[in-house]
Amino acid sequence: MEHLVLVFPDQAITDEQHIAFGKNFGELEIHVSVAHRSSRNVEIYRVSNVDEAGNIIPPKDTAWQYINLSWLWHTDSSFRAVPSKGSILHGLEVTNAGGNTLFANMYAAYDDLGDAMKKRIEGMWVIHDHDHILSLSSELSKKEDKGKYDALPPVRHPLVQVHPVTRRRCLLLSPHTMVNVEGMVPAEGRALLDSLIEHAIGDKYVYRHAWAKDDVIMWDNRCTMHSVEPFDNAHVRRVMHRVTLVGEARPLPA
Ligand code: OGA
Ligand code: MN
Repeated sequence: MEHLVLVFPDQAITDEQHIAFGKNFGELEIHVSVAHRSSRNVEIYRVSNVDEAGNIIPPKDTAWQYINLSWLWHTDSSFRAVPSKGSILHGLEVTNAGGNTLFANMYAAYDDLGDAMKKRIEGMWVIHDHDHILSLSSELSKKEDKGKYDALPPVRHPLVQVHPVTRRRCLLLSPHTMVNVEGMVPAEGRALLDSLIEHAIGDKYVYRHAWAKDDVIMWDNRCTMHSVEPFDNAHVRRVMHRVTLVGEARPLPA
């Protein structure tokens, strides 16, 4: 709870060990995207530009285009009524140029807002929708077959939440699922969200992780968001396996 992101270097673990480690912290999610679940262990979400046969996925493939969208800033499973509380990611094949993972501190971003802004956003609710992710890709949004996903209805989350353990306030931002602010004129709501996102990804809130093979990173989804820097995905292999901790309750509004 004190350190929002933990890095464990040099963990040459199997997927089974990864799953067993995750289960110490509670139940594990099964990701909504069917194509990205490992065929041997459904709890493993494959965040990768390499398919299970070991081949680089062509950039025009739906499977890549979906994963590419998770390079944008987000928190994991913010499209669920009860989002994930934390994730554990293992770097199996890592990149030298690009492909760093960025984590932003949502407590610090909230604390630094002016009093007027804090007052303005308290009590606001944001609509989050899994399918909003698909609309953000110019290629995927035009495709008839966008991939196979478990259907999830849109949900609403508070814009400012109280962390259930630390009781500290933080911003609940997940740009790839945030459709708009409930009850606001769309353009105004969008402008407000965009300005908060811009603020929250400022350098002083961000830790940039350059991966080494077999790094394992564990983070708290309730007080951070993350993104991935682009890399040469048509030629360079990047294979990450994730287990995702089921959240305990709906986010608590401030
Ligand atoms: C994730 C994710 C980050 C990465 O696993 O939740 O967004 O570095 N991936 O691949
Ligand atoms: Mn993620």
